[in-house]
Amino acid sequence: MEIRLQKWLSQAGIASRRKAEELILSGLVSVNGEIVIELGVRADTAKDIVAVDGKPCEIPTQKVYIAMHKPEGVITTVLDPYSRPTVMDYIPREYNCFPVGRLDYDTSGLLIMTNDGNFAQMLTHPKHEVTKTYIAIVKGLPRNESLEAFRSGLTIEGKPTAPAQIEIIKKTSNAKVRIKLREGRNRQVRKMCEAIGHPILSLKRVEIGSIKLGPLPRGEWRHLTQAELKILIAPIASI
Ligand code: URA
Repeated sequence: MEIRLQKWLSQAGIASRRKAEELILSGLVSVNGEIVIELGVRADTAKDIVAVDGKPCEIPTQKVYIAMHKPEGVITTVLDPYSRPTVMDYIPREYNCFPVGRLDYDTSGLLIMTNDGNFAQMLTHPKHEVTKTYIAIVKGLPRNESLEAFRSGLTIEGKPTAPAQIEIIKKTSNAKVRIKLREGRNRQVRKMCEAIGHPILSLKRVEIGSIKLGPLPRGEWRHLTQAELKILIAPIASI
């Protein structure tokens, strides 16, 4: 069967289709040894060899869905040009998983990994707006007006944010807060906290939709259960 290279790479667990396009355009993808840099080229799953950065990638038959507890100081990427620790170091290579969405280098917590490109695309598509929950320590104690501004929407880099939730769960000289967001702009939680004058001191993601990090230790992972997958997908699939 002939399929587009983007689809091949996402089914092989190398990247989402969007990321796969970037890999192709950056000249890292070859078919039978020839680099391909145009989008739309097809390869035959029965006879062609598709490779990324010289490494052949096969399409696995078994789908894998993983919840991992990403530690701080680890990069959410498949290939790091500087050989720094990445989330890939924590998951068996043979699963061919890639991260669904991302957490910053200095953020810890729940990250979903999969080899199912369609699932990844569905979960990260902005129109599906899966709620993500974070626990953060912010500098100082935000006043009610600041919390209300956060909830009703702020302007970040010239673009308004959607309404979000924030509540203080513990006060010392700083505040521990629970934040729920349905958007996923780059470093959004950090930028929103900064915008209300309370920069983040530590940030951890504890839920993605109905999936909870729970007591999973730092750097450990587990397979998502069939029940968890069903509940996660149900609201998305009905849209
Ligand atoms: N928002 C951030 O600012 N950082 C993350 O890692 C995730 C969400």
